[in-house]
Amino acid sequence: MELQASFCFLFFTFTAVFSLFSLSLFILRLKPCCNCDVCTAFINRSWAAEFVNLSDWYTHLLRKSPTGTIHLHVLNNIITANPDNVEYMIKTNFDNYPKGKAFSAILGDLLGRGIFNVDGNCWRFQRKMASLELGSLSIRSHALSVVVEEIESRLIPFFSSVADKDGDVLDLQDIFRRFSFDSICKFSFGLDPGSLKPSLPVSDLESAFDLSSKLCAERGLAPTPLVWKMKRLFNLGSEKKLKESIKIVKRMADQVIKTRRVTGPSSNNDLLSRFMGSISDDDYLRDIVISFLLAGRDTVASALTSFFLLLSQNPKVVEKIREESDRVMGTTLDTLASFGDLRHLHYLRAALHESMRLYPPVQFDSKFAEQDDVLPDGTFVRRGSRVTYHPYAMGRMERIWGPDSLEFKPDRWIRDGMFKPESAYKYPVYQGGVRVCLGKEMSLMEMQIASLSLIRRFDVRVVNPSQTLRFSPGLTANVSGGLPAVVRRRDVPE
Ligand code: HEM
Repeated sequence: MELQASFCFLFFTFTAVFSLFSLSLFILRLKPCCNCDVCTAFINRSWAAEFVNLSDWYTHLLRKSPTGTIHLHVLNNIITANPDNVEYMIKTNFDNYPKGKAFSAILGDLLGRGIFNVDGNCWRFQRKMASLELGSLSIRSHALSVVVEEIESRLIPFFSSVADKDGDVLDLQDIFRRFSFDSICKFSFGLDPGSLKPSLPVSDLESAFDLSSKLCAERGLAPTPLVWKMKRLFNLGSEKKLKESIKIVKRMADQVIKTRRVTGPSSNNDLLSRFMGSISDDDYLRDIVISFLLAGRDTVASALTSFFLLLSQNPKVVEKIREESDRVMGTTLDTLASFGDLRHLHYLRAALHESMRLYPPVQFDSKFAEQDDVLPDGTFVRRGSRVTYHPYAMGRMERIWGPDSLEFKPDRWIRDGMFKPESAYKYPVYQGGVRVCLGKEMSLMEMQIASLSLIRRFDVRVVNPSQTLRFSPGLTANVSGGLPAVVRRRDVPE
């Protein structure tokens, strides 16, 4: 009894001292003595009186800044929307701007040594291997067949069933998250979670994966990492839940890998089968594949969700997409777009790019400076500072996109009737430079085919098209509360 009491006393004393220590470190790091307007507004959250999202406030500040760069002293965070700075960080002086240990720690329990979460040689090795695989024709055909199957057997039937129940409302974001989760799991693991089956089941893998990524993102919001690290140490609250959900994700991945080691690589060319040949360490293999799930799931769902909001606001764009597809694919709806068709669907590609300009799935992306440096616009970067480039703000900058920067105009991407890409440093939606997204072409293929399959068959009307989207904090832009929409069939020849 006495021993137990002493242990409790020691435990609480230790926790109290550690918490005080964390708090003082946090206060020191916050540099509360900075009373500049921006830091004061950040600390008081007074920005929230005028702006719906933190990203909207940053956009406002970045527009006003003559260099397109601001400094949030209290967070030791430089934020930039200046394309020259972006190019410098992610290409010219890439080695000085790794993701850094702070980021890796946040996602480390879920992603381990997976590509998304590492720097240096470990990243270089996976990057080389993954770029070779993703560039191959067989894996691109596999990706296409996964997406086509998911659309034909689940996405279109689901929309049809809602359209048949006149007046029923569906949550576009939820449906696109299910669609992209099934697709990325089949593509990476050859595993079908079936989350877009008609009953919309909640699969264990999906809920565990969702909870893990949400709770990891919440770690990033903690005032200091010491808070979540302490909770993890004592297995408390959200950290306990995180540990349990990561265990489920890893157990499922391990099972698939174990079975696959026995049966041999699958003939359908999923990523796991491709990587199995070069990697014998199964934990490492699992980390790599889980990174792909994280990278390829919410991003696609987020892009499709905001695309359908913008289409609801801009019916003329919908008409132009339909006209173009009728011209390229004919007016009957017996097949989905093929690779060949996609090459000619310039306006559709332009509309998707334009949508992600205004609503990039990854709204901002941070690196940590290894050494003191000076950005091209003259901003001094002290070693260890966090440097963030901000695609959301960049898409809304007049100095980059002109006076109509806030308007949804797919034609700004068209020259002589063809889609013309912009510089990745002006439009870093897929990052760009040395670490450009590896799933860029795959995601564009998936989003073009899926969105077109719906646009041609249905009228999709967001219930409240004039709303300002409110995003929940997280790694990817998620609309808080989802995006309800009404679906009706179009009268078209079958
Ligand atoms: C609209 C869809 C997508 C967008 C906007 C997007 C955007 C991005 C961005 C901004 C990054 C850089 C993140 C960082 O380094 O902090 C990234 C990295 C990555 N993306 Fe995507 N992504 C999309 C879809 C996909 C898909 C479908 C896949 C999988 C097939 C994928 C695989 C990856 C991988 C593996 C990386 C890490 C690359 C590296 O670190 O070298 N992405 N993506």
